[in-house]
Amino acid sequence: MSEPLLPGAAPEGGIAAVVVLAAGQGTRMRSSTPKVLHALGGRSMLGHVLAATAPLAPRHTLVVVGAGREAVEEHLAQVAPDARPVVQEDQRGSGHAAAVALAAVPDLQGAVLLVNGDAPLLRPETVTSLVDAHRSAGNVLTVLTAEVDDPTGLGRIVRDADGAVRAIVEQRDATPEQRAIREVNAGVYVGEAAALRRALGSLGEDNDQGEQYLTDVLGLLVAEGAPVGGAPAEDPVDVLGCNDRRELAARRRTLNDRVLDDLMRAGVTVVDPATTWVDVTVTVAADALLEPGVHLRGTTSVATGAVVGPDTTLVDTTVEEGASVVRSHVLDAVVGPRATVGPFSYLRPGTRLAAGSKVGAFVETKNVQVGEDSKVPHLSYVGDATIGRGSNVGAATVFVNYDGVEKHHTRVGDHVRIGSDTMLVAPVTVGDGAYTAAGSVITTDVPPGAMGVARARQRNVAGWVRRRRPGTAAAQAAEAAGDAGAETAADTRAEASE
Ligand code: UD1
Ligand code: CA
Repeated sequence: MSEPLLPGAAPEGGIAAVVVLAAGQGTRMRSSTPKVLHALGGRSMLGHVLAATAPLAPRHTLVVVGAGREAVEEHLAQVAPDARPVVQEDQRGSGHAAAVALAAVPDLQGAVLLVNGDAPLLRPETVTSLVDAHRSAGNVLTVLTAEVDDPTGLGRIVRDADGAVRAIVEQRDATPEQRAIREVNAGVYVGEAAALRRALGSLGEDNDQGEQYLTDVLGLLVAEGAPVGGAPAEDPVDVLGCNDRRELAARRRTLNDRVLDDLMRAGVTVVDPATTWVDVTVTVAADALLEPGVHLRGTTSVATGAVVGPDTTLVDTTVEEGASVVRSHVLDAVVGPRATVGPFSYLRPGTRLAAGSKVGAFVETKNVQVGEDSKVPHLSYVGDATIGRGSNVGAATVFVNYDGVEKHHTRVGDHVRIGSDTMLVAPVTVGDGAYTAAGSVITTDVPPGAMGVARARQRNVAGWVRRRRPGTAAAQAAEAAGDAGAETAADTRAEASE
């Protein structure tokens, strides 16, 4: 018979709380944006940390905010509405931040994961194995450690002759012998709430920075004789922090390599990993092909057999089976099965291309549905429109959707032929099977099957060049072609009024 859970106690297998320390200034970023909001791979640093800890299914997720707190709180409301911001008014150190978080949930019991907000490469497996190590050792505190080549700036893990962890010493407070240690504090800890509270309550500020160091909790618990431990991360790369823009670029590169490795292992062809950037939130199916210079962002998905690139950016876009997008910039669009886009096109939000359709070169689209097998092959603007199936929009057509105040919709039916250089002045409908004449300005509906012609008739002023441009190469060419420079009476009248 199991006892009822104590208030605030962790569910079986779960964890009581995740506490993300994110109140620090991040001075070294030299940014007006709080450090934890800087983004890489499609998420903020804070977002990555929350994603890595989410599988622990904590009862509480607390984020300690301070520097730039309004921006961090707003971001949290968007990406992690279940997380609770806890304000640390003055940034008196990582230990003080942890104490403020625990004070916000006074009845909290059980295991608490504490993690720095600037560890964007952290993976769920790393966090889970730390919690497992903590539980199987029966510790009150376990710190994630990493063996690194260059430990500069990081807290060193001091072990005794038996290999037991005794203390964490910050670089600036370390002796030369301690500085030679290459095992460092990763900034991820799991501890029992009661022990943490006790130790955090007796933290001093007797260090080089005059701050309350979370890292000192470990030494305090060792002094109590409590069981503490250090669990080395399987891959030291996972725990790298991010304190300035150079580190941000390096972490972004690492994260991207990780994403591309996963994709390639899953059967995606990545022609040039060095110039291909894929957010962690993107999905790409096996046998899709990414050419060099491709950026896939947000909720983008690419289906099997699709080809993207070279030099293409897709944001929040769905590319379906066998489609291709070449040298184009695409936002919030759907490129249907076997549809083709580009080269050099700009697809804006709301573009929906049905199966087998085509948006060719130098075309801009926005809020438009292009039906099955319909084509907009060259040099056009298509905004706020519905195009049926099997239709063709001639080169240099403009869907004139804006009257200076409001946007209007254009309907083009099935099997329509829009002549080149047509202006379709919305709101307007071109019926099924209709045509428009090249160069027309269509301002009223064209009924099904009709030809809409809306342009002046052509007239030729005979002999004009020889009379008006005598002696030019054009005049000589005209003469050689047999033009005597003669004119009709109508031409003379027209010319006189010009
Ligand atoms: C910290 C650790 C160090 C470890 C390293 C790993 C301490 C004292 N040192 O150093 O042992 O090797 O991380 O990357 O913790 N924060 C607050 N409030 C504060 C101060 C800090 O919330 O008053 C937060 C920061 O936003 C940050 C985290 O605590 O996410 C750590 O602070 P930071 O200044 O980045 O510590 P490091 O010098 O990197
Ligand atoms: Ca840091």
